[in-house]
Parts: sequence; structure tokens; C-alpha cells
Amino acid sequence: MGKNAIRFHFNNMFRPAVGEHGLDMAAIPAAAEAVARMHAAMCVKKEQMAWRQLPYNQQQVVAEVKQTGAYIRASFDNFVVLGIGGSALGSKALFAACCHPRYNALSAERRGGPRFYVEDNVDPDRLQSLFDVIDIKRTAFHVISKSGNTVETMSQFILVTDLLQKAMGADFRRNIFVTTDKESGLMKKIADAAGWKSFVVPDGVGGRFSVLCPVGLLSAAVLGIDVDALLEGAAAMDKICTQPTVEENPAYLYALLYTEAMKQGVNISVMLPYADALAPFSEWYCQLWAESLGKAVDNQGKPVHYGQTPVRALGVTDQHSQIQLYNEGPYDKIITFIGVEHFRNTLLIPSAAVPVFEADYVCGHSFNELIAHEMQATIHAVTTHGKMNNCIWLESLNACTLGKLFFFFEMATAAAGELLQIDAFNQPGVEAGKVATFALMGRPGYEDVARQLSEKHSASESYVFHA
Ligand code: PA5
Repeated sequence: MGKNAIRFHFNNMFRPAVGEHGLDMAAIPAAAEAVARMHAAMCVKKEQMAWRQLPYNQQQVVAEVKQTGAYIRASFDNFVVLGIGGSALGSKALFAACCHPRYNALSAERRGGPRFYVEDNVDPDRLQSLFDVIDIKRTAFHVISKSGNTVETMSQFILVTDLLQKAMGADFRRNIFVTTDKESGLMKKIADAAGWKSFVVPDGVGGRFSVLCPVGLLSAAVLGIDVDALLEGAAAMDKICTQPTVEENPAYLYALLYTEAMKQGVNISVMLPYADALAPFSEWYCQLWAESLGKAVDNQGKPVHYGQTPVRALGVTDQHSQIQLYNEGPYDKIITFIGVEHFRNTLLIPSAAVPVFEADYVCGHSFNELIAHEMQATIHAVTTHGKMNNCIWLESLNACTLGKLFFFFEMATAAAGELLQIDAFNQPGVEAGKVATFALMGRPGYEDVARQLSEKHSASESYVFHA
């Protein structure tokens, strides 16, 4: 098998493997009509789902991203992404999956590019600490906000431009790069007024579906990740994931099995990769699955309160914290394992330097065998405990296989939205929190919300403890 191959295993979702709490195999033929409707909707809406065109329609953008990436690699010691949610998680996943695990601690020569940071919170201690480890004059900032209005990103941007101006005077402008909507939002206005080069989040590409546009691609280019391979991986997965039936299309099968399980009350989806490099990928998946499918109403406006709570876990680490629950707890979750056949390193467990007694059975094996066997062992354990699970094996983890994974889960999420007949691309629940924050921070136009919030706050003083 080539190094870019991926295998999907779904057998452990069904009763023959996991027993009565699994899915009935008959669920697949029974859903044939629903799948056909879903596929028809996916075809009709293909143009609206502009993220599906990203592997194909960005030649010009990719050239500009590569050029800017090369300039940043040559000109700065640090590269900082300022963004949150879909404007940050793709960059985090790319960095962890494709770069040296201790990249920022390597010498400049071994890194070959600037140190990399994603600032996706407004915790004042964390933000302040960034300025303890970077020389701001030698730092490029990539400000990413599709809406151009997000309070966290705007606040970070205001802080950073203030610090840059104090340190560098008018010269600071060359340290700022922007990615935002092509016409709306404050960020676009600011970038235009300042005359900054800005990249565009294309129409129809929502935050959590934006990793394969400049939102994630500029990080990739700055980090020396093969942008072409990333997009080629996505295109290769697209070929499979546009097939009409669940027998040919793993994204449709994933969507069908998960939505069938949701109907049985299986409301938790655990993402459990056995590679540290994929831990941030799980964060990306969790946002995609949660924000896309957690919806109060269906397409007809009928209250449904759908959704499946995504949980991120890491093998083998969480075998020693969460697996007890997964094996013996309620039948309310599906576990997706992701394994890597060939790690970048092979690390042997040597003969012991001191007597280790009965522990010497591990000597002569490798950590590669250990992690692979632990994953197989855990799959066996959860399956024999009757818990639905499935498994994705990557031949190796690289830009191409990561592109495949991103695209697979985007397609599976969109297909699940169609099967549930909900809008997988809005996020009214996120907007509600954004509006309340605007009000609390005193943004003009939000005075009524601020008043309501302060009334609610003063009415909710019972059950408060001071210890
Ligand atoms: O997926 C989404 O749409 C959200 O998570 C957004 O990415 C997040 O709220 C940040 O929004 P913006 O990019 O507009 O600043």
C-alpha cells in the first residue's frame, strides 16, 4: 500500500461484532431511500457548499499563499495566528500533524521557518506570556476572522497593533497579514483602510469548513507543509466521497451509522487517535461535529434538539483515564480510533541496563509495536464490552493523508446534516454568546441585551457559596 493510503473499518458498529447494543445490519438497506435523498441534496447543494471546491479552484490563491509563506519564512522568527474556533483549529491540527512534535524548541536551522503559535483564547496570562517568548518586531501575525467582528480576535488584534506600533512605529504594518470575508465585517474595513494585503475566506466556506482555504493554507505554507499534497489528498477523498451509495462512500456510511446510532440515543462521539500528532485534529473534529449537528430545529423549523457530544481522547494516554468508562459505562457512545501504520521514527525498547525482572518481555520490541498493539487491544476490549466503534488506519501521517482526513470528516458532517434534515452550516447557538459578549463589553447597539443580562444576573443570586 502507498504511504498515502487510508483504510476504514466499520464492522464493529454492528450487532454481529458488538452484540445487542450495536446497529442492526438491516439498517443499511432500510435507509436506501434516505441515503438516495441525502445524495441528491448533496449534489444539488454542491455549489453552495463552496468548501467542496477548495481542492480544485484555488490555483491563484495557492500561488499567493506560497509566495507570502516563503516571504514570512525568510523574514520573521515567529508566526502567530490570531483567531478562534474555525479560524484557529485547522492551523493547530496542521501544525501538530505535519511538524516536528517539539518544533518551537528546535534551532532555527532545523525548523527552517519561524516558531509557530496559535492564540485562540483571551486568557490574559496566556496572552501576556506570548510576549515573554517572542520579539514582537520579529513576529508576523496572521489575523483570521471570517465575520471580521469576533470580539476575541478583534481584541487581540488591537493589543498586538498597539504593541507593534510602540515597538516599531509605522513600520509595523509589514508584520500584519489578514484573512477575512471579501467585503463584509470590520476586519475587511480595517485592512482596506490600512492598505494591507488580505486573503479571502470564500463565500460559502464557513469557519469550521475553512482549513483548506487561506485560513489554514497560510499556516501550512509558513510551516513548510506541502500545500499541494494537502489539497491533492482532499481531492482524492472527494472522488470517493461523491459516490452515491454507502457501499462505495465511507463518508456517507459514517454519516448513516452515526445518525442511526443517534436515533438509538447514542449521544456521544469519541475521537481517539493513537498518535500525539493527531490530538489537535480531534479538537478540529469536535468543533466540526458539535457546531454542525447540534441544532435546536430542523429545516422545517420543527424543534428537534439534535446533536452528539464529541469527546476528544488520546491513545494510549487516555487508556489510563477514560477507557474504564468506555468499557463498563453506558452504551451511549461510539468510538472512532485512528491509527498510524508507519510513524516517522522507529524506536526500539532496548535490553534493560538494570535488572527489570519479569518486565523484560518488552525488551527487543519497539514503541511502534507497543502503541499499535495497545490500539488493537483497546479495540478488542471495547468491542467485547459491546461498545460500537470504528477505525481509520493511516498508512502514514503526512500532508496528503491529513487532507484526506479533513475532507472525509467535512463530507461526513455535511451528509449527516442532510440525513437529519438540519442546517449543518449555521451556528445560531454561537451567535447568541457573541451577542451577549458584545452587550457585556458595551458595544453600541446592544444596550437592551445588556439591560436584560444585568437584570437576570441580579435575580440569580441564590445558591451562591463563598468558601
Ligand atoms: O465555525 C465557525 O463558524 C465558528 O467557530 C467561527 O470560526 C468562530 O466563531 C470564529 O469566527 P470568525 O472567523 O468570524 O472570527
